[in-house]
Amino acid sequence: MTASPAREIGVGLVSVGWMGQLHSRAYTRLPHVYPELGLRPRLVRAADTAEAGRAYATDVLGYEGATADYREVLADPDVDVVSICAPNFLHAEVGIAAARAGKHFWIEKPVGRGAHETAAIRDAAIAAGVATTIGFNYRQPPAIRKARQLIAEGALGRITNVRGRFFGGFSSDPQSPRAWRFVRETSGSGVLGDLMGHLVDLVHFLLGPIGSVTATTGTFITERPGLPGSPDAGRMLPVENDDYANMLLRFDDSAFAAGALGTLDASWIAVGPQAEYAIEIFGTEGSLRWDFERLNELEVAIRRPGESVGYARLMADASFPEFSRFQPGPGTSMGYDDLKVIEARGFLLAATGSASGTSTIHDALASAQVLTAAEESAASGLWVATPVVEGHTAHVR
Ligand SMILES: NC(=O)c1ccc[n+]([C@@H]2O[C@H](COP(=O)([O-])OP(=O)(O)OC[C@H]3O[C@@H](n4cnc5c(N)ncnc54)[C@H](O)[C@@H]3O)[C@@H](O)[C@H]2O)c1
Repeated sequence: MTASPAREIGVGLVSVGWMGQLHSRAYTRLPHVYPELGLRPRLVRAADTAEAGRAYATDVLGYEGATADYREVLADPDVDVVSICAPNFLHAEVGIAAARAGKHFWIEKPVGRGAHETAAIRDAAIAAGVATTIGFNYRQPPAIRKARQLIAEGALGRITNVRGRFFGGFSSDPQSPRAWRFVRETSGSGVLGDLMGHLVDLVHFLLGPIGSVTATTGTFITERPGLPGSPDAGRMLPVENDDYANMLLRFDDSAFAAGALGTLDASWIAVGPQAEYAIEIFGTEGSLRWDFERLNELEVAIRRPGESVGYARLMADASFPEFSRFQPGPGTSMGYDDLKVIEARGFLLAATGSASGTSTIHDALASAQVLTAAEESAASGLWVATPVVEGHTAHVR
């Protein structure tokens, strides 16, 4: 018996930076990791204003063509789906244009510069009936999927509190140039929209919608040198957004963890942690914790009467969702790129009309609303309520 031929899906890409390259590698690996999907991504056309990005797209990634104008990608009839990996300031423009062109899109976070822009993209996607997936890749590690299972099964008892810290060191050098991330017009908020946005989505995925927050933000590296090769090279320029943010939270009554409390903080100027994206969840019967720097491990402590209690370190194995797709046994590690292959699968399932289990534009809006509430709270010093977004995939009872 011969297998039926795989269905070809034409892929367009907007921006060939770190994320654009990663999305492309994920599409290429998808049929190797999930052959039964019967989908074969074809890398059709990529857009980047930088010549080097276009050359990389065609010569290395294997796109059939490249252009400086993303509108040519959206107008190409051979393009069925689009990865939007542009800097944040282009997300609304490109996302809305993609929806209007009838292209399903996988878009990086933060989807908009705040809740207002994210809602506009959501509205365009709904009006056009296109499928969406968000680059919330910290939903994908097998250890996180396992953690969600344990929480749902009640292994931790009633959830009492969550503590999350997403601490990166990638902007800790004050001499690293003032790239688009540090400018309000091109980025929106700083680490709040970036790492805190991931953390908020992870909390939603594991424990349910956040109902209200109070937050503070700070900027500690207040100026950075202009980009080499730009007219501002050699000059110090102001950093216009936050490099540290924290919040206290209460869950919405609909959340799996209704009644629980939490504290989250995020920094991209931490010296020491490199990508210490860590979450700890506490319940009346047990606790668990995970750290992206140790992607393949989940620590779990369960209270058993008469026994001493402590964390057991579980290595991801075939009992962890998706792990055996990538590695044959525990101790052989999965990596960051693999998370995007899992995400690509969800995206193409959604784009071809199947249930996907990935985050959607509704989840992006849910995260953005919490971040916008946090900005309001940081300005006012007050608690701010965050209305629950219809259509979200957060963990509810
Ligand atoms: N999911 C994650 O973990 C994760 C990690 C890093 C970045 N991101 C997000 O991905 C997005 C891209 O970040 P990155 O690190 O890949 O950025 P990057 O700086 O590496 O690349 C940006 C690219 O955009 C191109 N570009 C600029 N203007 C353009 C235009 N008008 N049209 C087409 N291309 C244009 C640049 O030439 C560059 O190649 C951001 O929204 C960022 O927040 C997500």
